[in-house]
Amino acid sequence: MTSVLEINGLRKTYRSRGGPRRALDGFDMHVEAGQVHGFLGPNGSGKTTTLRTLLGLIRADSGDMKILGQQIPEALPNVVAHVGAIVESPQFFGNFTAKDTLSLLCDAGSLPQSRVDWAFELVGLRERASEKVKTYSLGMKQRLAVASALLKQPRLLILDEPANGLDPGGIREMRDLMRSLVEIGMTVVLSSHILAEVQQICDSVTIISLGRRRTAGSVAEVLARYSSGSVRVRMDSLGELSSAGELLTRSE
Ligand SMILES: Nc1ncnc2c1ncn2[C@@H]1O[C@H](COP(=O)(O)OP(=O)(O)O)[C@@H](O)[C@H]1O
Ligand SMILES: [Mg+2]
Repeated sequence: MTSVLEINGLRKTYRSRGGPRRALDGFDMHVEAGQVHGFLGPNGSGKTTTLRTLLGLIRADSGDMKILGQQIPEALPNVVAHVGAIVESPQFFGNFTAKDTLSLLCDAGSLPQSRVDWAFELVGLRERASEKVKTYSLGMKQRLAVASALLKQPRLLILDEPANGLDPGGIREMRDLMRSLVEIGMTVVLSSHILAEVQQICDSVTIISLGRRRTAGSVAEVLARYSSGSVRVRMDSLGELSSAGELLTRSE
């Protein structure tokens, strides 16, 4: 299988007024073509930092990244046409129709207008395309956001928490949409802090916490490994005994 995305040893420390904050601490992630890959981790674990670094929006301190075999950030101009992304949730003008919104984005990206109907068809919004965005539900807005990232017909689609806040019906729609994207040959990386979302939507998963990969593999394999019913707590000193006890109580 071909590797669409390879990240090795990624490190990033933010230097903010409150002092340095290590967001990525030698993070690794590998994604093969033709699947929906979940990027799962609690809030603050480093998902958005990873995705922003991949897209050249911020610089890593060190590490190695490749998209479609090309070194990032150096060769980003060679692959940018093949990568669609939503990292910050996009803000659309409520008074524009969804169709005008995508139409403008097509013009801005010098893409053929035929992509607009194509994208609406894929995300299941064709019949609602001439309605104003402000009348859209959260799920429809999220699918419109995905449609905007699809306009350039990318080979790799990067979505930061696209199912956030969706009800079970919305998550099912997102799952069906992701399946149809994989069927037409795309690879999707989808971040989430909710296990159930990844379980329902993704084929494979990388789990991140505190800026490091904890595990990776097919969703079925990883879940089987983590549902053995045992919890292990590592202590660096005996002084941590009471907080370890507290952790174990909470994990019951
Ligand atoms: N611009 C920033 N300046 C300082 N710290 C940041 C900044 N962005 C993120 N962080 C910190 O980096 C860590 C990882 O954040 P983030 O990548 O946003 O995690 P996630 O997307 O998994 O919730 C967190 O501790 C967060 O507070
Ligand atoms: Mg985030």
